[in-house]
Amino acid sequence: MGVEGSEGRVLSIREVGEEIVHLIVSTETTPKPGQFYMLRAWQEAPLLGRPISVFDYNEGKVEFVFKVVGKGTEILAQLKVNDEIQLQGPYGNGFPAIEGKILLVGGGLGNAPLHATAKNLKAQGQAVDLRLGFAEQIFLEEEFVQAATDTQFVVGGLVTDGLDMTKYDAVFTCGPHPMMEAVVKMARDAGIPSYVSIEKRMACGVGACLVCTCKTKSGNKKTCKDGPVFEGEEVFYEDKHQIS
Ligand SMILES: Cc1cc2nc3c(=O)[nH]c(=O)nc-3n(C[C@H](O)[C@H](O)[C@H](O)COP(=O)(O)OP(=O)(O)OC[C@H]3O[C@@H](n4cnc5c(N)ncnc54)[C@H](O)[C@@H]3O)c2cc1C
Ligand code: FES
Repeated sequence: MGVEGSEGRVLSIREVGEEIVHLIVSTETTPKPGQFYMLRAWQEAPLLGRPISVFDYNEGKVEFVFKVVGKGTEILAQLKVNDEIQLQGPYGNGFPAIEGKILLVGGGLGNAPLHATAKNLKAQGQAVDLRLGFAEQIFLEEEFVQAATDTQFVVGGLVTDGLDMTKYDAVFTCGPHPMMEAVVKMARDAGIPSYVSIEKRMACGVGACLVCTCKTKSGNKKTCKDGPVFEGEEVFYEDKHQIS
């Protein structure tokens, strides 16, 4: 199995919400928005790296935002400045290049990859609106405001409430499956294409183990290699194994 790995060092680490960590790591790699890395900062257990999306990147450093949910993220959250961390990747396809005005809809930790995506589109001169849902507390508010043409936050309620998609050329979404399913349906009704970023449990991250299989209308796909971004209309959403 060909695994591209590199060592990075922690440049900054801080809590930006309850059990939500903003981590900045040095790297010689250059990711695209929507891609992810397998992060590992331990010798033996847990065996595998953990997939975390790119929140932001600048020359020589990549940023992540993750929630502590288990052993791996717990260890990552305890890293200190200057500690070593293994980065495998960047992996995955990222969101497609589409002309026009783009709407990004996120929920929970699914908001993280939309930050890099919005920032990149804005830097290219494209109009990009962010609509971000948070259960209780907004994290990195100023960063999200700066990343897009217009950023709206929804705390507690449904992020899709009152959304008018007819003024957009495409919608990209990442978050819990029911939210993404609703976004895909609204996009269909508005006659615009939708793209979803799927989160599945992963093991190898490079297409070798099939742990991350995603059911689509054109057969089973590997989320790590064929995704994590898929056309919204392609994916079957009955699989609710998704963190938010
Ligand atoms: C492509 C991709 C990008 C991701 N980006 C981010 C990100 O930017 N920020 C972030 O906070 N998280 C992200 N995740 C989820 C993150 O990888 C998991 O939370 C992490 O692997 C959990 O590891 P752990 O050892 O702490 O928890 P574990 O002990 O492995 O698991 C703890 C709990 O979380 C569940 N779980 C773990 N991983 C997943 C998963 N991938 N999908 C659904 N349930 C899961 C387990 O079933 C279990 O209930 C991403 C996942 C993928 C596949
Ligand atoms: S994680 Fe192994 S094939 Fe995707």
